[in-house]
Amino acid sequence: MIHTELLSFFDQNTGVIKGRPTVERRLSDLRSSFVDENAYETALNAGDPIIYTVASVEPATGPGQLHYGLGIIMPGKVGDEYYLTKGHLHAWREAAELYFGLSGQGFMLLEDEHSGQSIAIPLAPGSAVYVPAHAAHRTINTGTVPLSYLGVYPSEAGHDYGAIANRNFGSVVIEHEGKPVVVDRRQYLNDRTAASNTETAEKN
Ligand code: F6R
Ligand code: MN
Repeated sequence: MIHTELLSFFDQNTGVIKGRPTVERRLSDLRSSFVDENAYETALNAGDPIIYTVASVEPATGPGQLHYGLGIIMPGKVGDEYYLTKGHLHAWREAAELYFGLSGQGFMLLEDEHSGQSIAIPLAPGSAVYVPAHAAHRTINTGTVPLSYLGVYPSEAGHDYGAIANRNFGSVVIEHEGKPVVVDRRQYLNDRTAASNTETAEKN
């Protein structure tokens, strides 16, 4: 019953969990995640920085077992939109998850896969965010320093990235007048189109 996986050592500043694997996600891995495609291409032409890393611990797998991960998202934006994770639903849709904020400031965007209803919940040191079943979830760094957090989930949760890749989240978290605001994705795109049409009309 007792095995060697009962204790791990994590460093919330480096994102490393001693002896465990770390996955790196770069800007090029996040194609179609950001709302502003032109800003994305411009950013990618300038370089391909690491946007976030996730180190994970998988002590045992099976009914009742838990896995957990340490995530760190760098500060930054693509256009107006803050750096974010790809986001996913759990392959096993009933699987919930608990996120604990460790350092930095940000949000978790939760979106119910059936109703499409979404909510942005602050994630910061001292806060725990419960991700319910059937909720797509994405983490966003709205601060000026790295955002780190722990996510604890059933070992059988799995990741389904496909559903998000197809339709993306209905809301985006952008900087407006120096502050993070949550806006509807379509509304944001419509407003941008309207603004660029006005600009073109004024030039002609
Ligand atoms: C696991 C979980 C987290 C994320 C991590 C990276 O279920 O929610 O460990 O995997 O925050 O986000 P994604 O997986 O969306 O790239
Ligand atoms: Mn998850």
